[in-house]
Amino acid sequence: MNINICETETEKYIRAVKEIKPEGGLCTVITFGCQQNEADSEKIRGMAAQMGYAHTENPEDADIIVVNTCAIRQHAEEKALSMLGRFKAIKRKNPNLIVGVVGCMAAEAHVCEMLKKDFHYISFTLEPSMLYRFPELVFINLSDKKRTFVYGEDRGDVIEGIPAVRSSEHRAWVSIMYGCNNFCSYCIVPYVRGRERSRESSEIILETKQLVSQGCKEITLLGQNVNSYRSDMDFAELLEAIAKIEGDFIIRFMTSHPKDVSDALVRVMGEYSGKIAPYFHLPLQSGSDSILKAMNRTYDRKGFLNTVNRLREAVPDIALSSDVIVGFPGESEEDFEDTLDMLRKVRFDMVYSFIYSRREGTRAAAMPNHIDDSIKSERMSRLLDLQCAISKEKNEPYLGRTVRVLVDGVDKSGGCNTYSARTMTNKLVHFTSDECCIGQFKEIKINRIGAFDLFGEEI
Ligand code: 5AD
Ligand code: SF4
Repeated sequence: MNINICETETEKYIRAVKEIKPEGGLCTVITFGCQQNEADSEKIRGMAAQMGYAHTENPEDADIIVVNTCAIRQHAEEKALSMLGRFKAIKRKNPNLIVGVVGCMAAEAHVCEMLKKDFHYISFTLEPSMLYRFPELVFINLSDKKRTFVYGEDRGDVIEGIPAVRSSEHRAWVSIMYGCNNFCSYCIVPYVRGRERSRESSEIILETKQLVSQGCKEITLLGQNVNSYRSDMDFAELLEAIAKIEGDFIIRFMTSHPKDVSDALVRVMGEYSGKIAPYFHLPLQSGSDSILKAMNRTYDRKGFLNTVNRLREAVPDIALSSDVIVGFPGESEEDFEDTLDMLRKVRFDMVYSFIYSRREGTRAAAMPNHIDDSIKSERMSRLLDLQCAISKEKNEPYLGRTVRVLVDGVDKSGGCNTYSARTMTNKLVHFTSDECCIGQFKEIKINRIGAFDLFGEEI
């Protein structure tokens, strides 16, 4: 169900927190994981600000610490738990400190039980679909110090109107759908983010128009499977409606599932290529047909290559990136060679590669023939070597070319007048400029290339 925040008790709890703690305080939000988590953290900051809690980067100064967690791989969970471990000492110094855990780990029953039992200084957990209840949990904690663990309550609602403090003025995330129905056999996401539900198209279009009128230059439409979006419009229709909004801005979207790249979507990308960035993140996961079947990906090599060709025909300068998993259970040397073969055939601009991580509760966790860590690492380094060479070759045509970029910020690795930016094809560019140009479109002449970034000068 689509519910506006006014129909929930959130505003009542925001007022109640302000009454009980009129002096306000400071709040730190620490984010792990994907862009969806970054977008959720902006909403936590938004609700915190309304309760009178200003943002601080320093957990030592905070009255509320929120850790927004990721459960996609074991390593991500370990990082969040070790971060939480650091707050025990801060809580000892400041017994009134509120420590909350949100994000995907907070939707896992066994994690919440473990936090309840072993992490006594944790005040609450809150699963992603219940984010709007953050003020309620702060109030409960402030009023009677009660610990609260909210999980297993997802009713599949979409909550509109949660206030957000956005971390950038020129780039914005706009969530269009939540959850996933695909149950890829390795993936925990459907268990922690629930079933697919889409926002109303009118709400998305209104939010985008407001952002553009405030000067936002890049809108990224977000969802676990953006191209399965469905309300009164499908994804291609929504993208076209957003591309028709007047203004000097570009549109990106992520993540897409290869099975849902419709002809209509490809046509819209071609027709609005000035407005919709010529970039597509298309997760392959494996290049072996039998592994793809075991992964429940519902496409094969031939279908994937066909989708790549359709995209390249409609948008000739399109850049493609992908996700690949190495060492899925039962992956033979031949299966892995098939993955390398697909990387050679497609020639992605960029590949995000991951070593398979066993996630309890998923179908793959119970499959036989898990691969030894040493074999996984060896395959991973072969894949990285191959893709590094391909990525560099894909960047070669940029040498000497002038490209349009959106300037993101000061480049921390360079001097204070070095900026980092993204081309329309989503390539990272470093350049120097004498004037501050963050948030502006610029024309940059590329004079040096690497596998992962380009270097240039303003013209
Ligand atoms: N192990 C390794 N990588 C995974 N991904 C999802 N689940 C797992 C897992 N269990 C990867 C997929 C997905 C990306 C976001 O994370 O490649 O596209
Ligand atoms: Fe996970 Fe597959 Fe859904 Fe992506 S599409 S979130 S990999 S289940």
